[in-house]
Order: sequence, then structure tokens, then C-alpha cells
Amino acid sequence: MSWVDGAKRRAAEAAARHVKSGTVIGLGTGSTAKHLIQIIGAYLSEGKLTEVQGVPTSNQTAADALEAGIPLTTLDDHPELTLSIDGADLIDGDLNAIKGGGGALLREKIVASASKTYILIADETKIVEKLGTGFPLPIEILPFSAAPTADRVGKLGASVALRRGKLGPVTTDNGNFILDADFGPIDDPAGLERELKSIPGVLETGLFLGYADFAYVGTPDGVRKLER
Ligand code: A5P
Repeated sequence: MSWVDGAKRRAAEAAARHVKSGTVIGLGTGSTAKHLIQIIGAYLSEGKLTEVQGVPTSNQTAADALEAGIPLTTLDDHPELTLSIDGADLIDGDLNAIKGGGGALLREKIVASASKTYILIADETKIVEKLGTGFPLPIEILPFSAAPTADRVGKLGASVALRRGKLGPVTTDNGNFILDADFGPIDDPAGLERELKSIPGVLETGLFLGYADFAYVGTPDGVRKLER
């Protein structure tokens, strides 16, 4: 295991200690969240945890959770979640984050907003002074108006790329497209969020502002807790 993968694992282990038996939790998406899913699955099979259900933030997470033995439920059945735990692409000193590298940002933000407690888990390479440093902002958009929406996002000062795979534009679990918008270091994330959300065709942005209660950050030899 690389040190980064070990760091992700340690962050996930620290967060897993907050999961209580008999609760419904939001399960994030990505490689760090996958560690968490495996750990919770192991706790369930060992009997350290019982009757935990998960609301997955992506089809991939749903598959991983079922494989790990975590029963799934929905926000329709459980509109309020005790706890959600998710990875991040970048985290700043105020615990604001950029998410969506895995394309799951829309469901991830809905689950985050439904959670009483929201914990981010990451390795320390994700910690930055300013969001936007070294990682573009993912934005979920409606395919119907992809080109004009990309154009309007670009006019806000970003270099914008439609995320593509081998077969064409990447389609999210919701049937939408993703723009990766490189704004460089973002001075005013809240202002940018407002401007982006005012563009018809922008369905959600990867700016997660004010959601995280705390974060566990894995380092080469340990884990530290970041609080607001
Ligand atoms: C998924 O859309 C993302 O928000 C992920 O949570 C984020 O990309 C972190 O992924 P890793 O844990 O794989 O770095």
C-alpha cells in the first residue's frame, strides 16, 4: 500500500469510530470512502456494529456497500441522516471542500445537506490554502445546454473542459455531464458558488461550503483531526 493509500485508510478508520449501531449513515464516493465502506462492512460482520444502514452517493458506492455487507436504504425512507462521511478532492482551512472528482457531487451534496454530522476524510495531499489550487472545480450540468453553459462558466474566469471518457462525454449517475472548470486559486468561494448557481443549466457545483463539521486527514505516519 502506498503512503497515500495508507493515509486514506487511517482517515477512514478514525471516521468509522463515529458510526453507531442502529443508525442510518450517508456513504461517500471515491477511493477514501471505499476504505470506510470496507471498514464498516468488517465491523458489521464482526458484530462490532449492528443494524447500520447506508444511503449511497453513487451507483459505485451502492455496489461497494452491498459487497461489504452494508444494507442500503434511501433518503425517501430516511430524509435525515445521523452522520455522513465522504472523501474530498481539496479541503481548505475553513473545512470548505471541492468534491466531484469521481462525478458524484450532486448526490454527495444532497446527502451532505441531509446529515446532522458530516465528516470529510482525506490524505494530506488534499489540504490547500485556497480551493481551486491544483484541482479544477467539477460542475454537473444539463446535457441539453452543455455548450452554452460551458461558455457562461468560462466567462466567470475559468478555463473549462467537458469531462470526456473513451466513448464521449462522461455521464453521471443522474444522466448529466460534468464540466471541469479551472479557476485557479478561488478567493471568494461563496461568491463563485452564487454566480455559478445562477446559470440555468448548472445543476450543482463541487463547492462544499460550510458542510463539514470536521475532517480526518491521514498523514504519512498518522491521522489528524481538523476542526473549524
Ligand atoms: C466523488 O465525486 C468525489 O467527490 C470524491 O469524494 C473525491 O473525488 C475524493 O475521491 P478520492 O477519495 O478517491 O480521492
